[in-house]
Amino acid sequence: MKSSSKASIAAILKQYDSGQDSLISLMQDIQSAFGYLPKEALQQAGRELDIPLSKFFAVASFYNSFNLEPQGKHTISVCEGTACHVKNADNLAQMVARELELNGDEGTSTDRQFTLKKVRCLGCCSMAPVVKVNDDIHGSMTQTKTATILNQYRKDKK
Ligand code: FES
Repeated sequence: MKSSSKASIAAILKQYDSGQDSLISLMQDIQSAFGYLPKEALQQAGRELDIPLSKFFAVASFYNSFNLEPQGKHTISVCEGTACHVKNADNLAQMVARELELNGDEGTSTDRQFTLKKVRCLGCCSMAPVVKVNDDIHGSMTQTKTATILNQYRKDKK
């Protein structure tokens, strides 16, 4: 871990007492500082606050809002709820994964510009299939529309 990262985690840990009483708040602070939950930071927090590493991983896997891997600048969430699924949302996710040259059907591009996630119902089923980019909802998506939106975000980075 870089020394600036060590300083960040030390500053965060100073605010907490030993034990698991404020575990979620601690994890939110670590994620806020690093953009995700680095394993080294969790190990240090575990050592200093006497919290088993397995506890961090259990909480992180229960709550979707926690990320154990570095995230891209933009998050692309493809809905895989029932209404979107029947309108071929999976094809959209596969197309995005190909475009981003991901190894799996979710993950972060090597340039750290995009993270692709498959998510549960986004609550706007009448617009299925739905893709959310950061906080923007895009409905009635096709592969062409998805590619256009992806290119817009790519241009924004230049
Ligand atoms: S199933 Fe996709 S928005 Fe509800």
